[in-house]
Amino acid sequence: MVRKSVMARPSSLFLIFFLHLVLVSSSTTSTETRSEHSRNHVALFIFGDSFFDAGNNNYINTTTLDQANFWPYGETYFKFPTGRFSDGRLISDFIAEYAKLPLISPFLQPGYNQYYHGVNFASAGAGALVETFKGAVIDLKTQLKYHKKVQTWLRSKLGKVEAEITLSKAVYLFSVGTNDYMSIFVTNSTVLNSYSKSEYVGIVIGNLTTIDIYKRGGRKFGFINLLPFGCAPGIRIIKAENNGSCLEEASSLVKLHNKALSRLLRKLEKQLKGFKYSLYNFDINLRRRMNHPSKYGFKEGKGACCGSGQFRGVFSCGGKRLGKEFQLCENPNEYVFWDSYHLTQRVYEQLADQMWNGARKPNSVWPYNLRDLFQAF
Ligand SMILES: *[C@@H]1O[C@H](CO)[C@@H](O)[C@H](O)[C@H]1NC(C)=O
Ligand SMILES: *[C@@H]1O[C@H](CO)[C@@H](O)[C@H](O)[C@H]1NC(C)=O
Ligand SMILES: *[C@@H]1O[C@H](CO)[C@@H](O)[C@H](O)[C@H]1NC(C)=O
Ligand SMILES: *[C@@H]1O[C@H](CO)[C@@H](O)[C@H](O)[C@H]1NC(C)=O
Repeated sequence: MVRKSVMARPSSLFLIFFLHLVLVSSSTTSTETRSEHSRNHVALFIFGDSFFDAGNNNYINTTTLDQANFWPYGETYFKFPTGRFSDGRLISDFIAEYAKLPLISPFLQPGYNQYYHGVNFASAGAGALVETFKGAVIDLKTQLKYHKKVQTWLRSKLGKVEAEITLSKAVYLFSVGTNDYMSIFVTNSTVLNSYSKSEYVGIVIGNLTTIDIYKRGGRKFGFINLLPFGCAPGIRIIKAENNGSCLEEASSLVKLHNKALSRLLRKLEKQLKGFKYSLYNFDINLRRRMNHPSKYGFKEGKGACCGSGQFRGVFSCGGKRLGKEFQLCENPNEYVFWDSYHLTQRVYEQLADQMWNGARKPNSVWPYNLRDLFQAF
């Protein structure tokens, strides 16, 4: 009787939780196998941009500007280029490790279709807006559509109820927004002639929707806010008259966006029953490393390991984008920036560690750290 009424109302989180208890306490072997995946693993679904892309862009029709599947990308850890924009692993790879999950594969990887542990939808260059680097990336809306396919797959493998449990226990990790602002500066877009900065931020934030996932049962969301990309080597050199300093216009957009993001998440927590989030302050914690590299074990906080020109800010790492010539540092571990826009594995590991374990403070990770999301709820 209880089971029947539960099955009829699968969208009620309380009842699902109750059903879960029923399943966990029942000990028949068939229940054991069916619910094994959803009970023992918290799946990880990854969305967003190049900070998390583990190789989806290897499989789309784009340009090398949005790809990193050539040497020396990957040289430190994988020893071959995977498509990750780093010398090694990304934040999302470390989070999977801390959660005792295997490396989470790109959704588009041919032949890959085992989604019990989650999957990675992130695409370098993607923003919250479909217009951002349109045609060259998998935009967030498409990433969310792909997630819908995974929901269908899980239902076919686990049954509707088990699939719901898997989706509600899963963690959804997002890095998105940087490209919506970055694109303005690297394409000379005139969008800021039509909108004020705060209007544009409102449009970006308005499209950073998690509601589709919430409706599919998702409850646990991890975000990183925007890094100070106005100080990335590639942006420092964008205006010669700036003489290598950070681009103020970019920094003010980052500030507005990050405020609006924390406001949005607080609002969602109030409005959506059961919605839990972890917001990592990528901005402050990266700035600390850029400004005081030696305090964190680095030698260079401003210039990149791989690239050309001043600060190695020309996006030429690997010699397949803007020019064939580039310089490569000897030891990426000494650098904060790996290429003109992205970070080294060493930084990603430090940041991931803080996201997982960090003190629950707005300057660190707030209101929960990722370990809480994986283990406490
Ligand atoms: C890839 O994109 C280019 C430029 O947009 C286009 O000309 C080409 O036909 C596309 N190729 C495929 C296989 O879709
Ligand atoms: C943007 O404008 C600057 C100055 O007008 C020009 O030098 C640069 O080539 C332009 N960049 C792009 C991507 O159009
Ligand atoms: C989402 O972005 C589009 C532009 O792609 C914009 O017209 C729309 O207003 C945005 N939605 C919200 C809710 O802000
Ligand atoms: C630009 O930077 C150089 C080297 O730091 C300095 O000598 C020069 O005065 C700066 N120029 C301006 C306009 O700030």
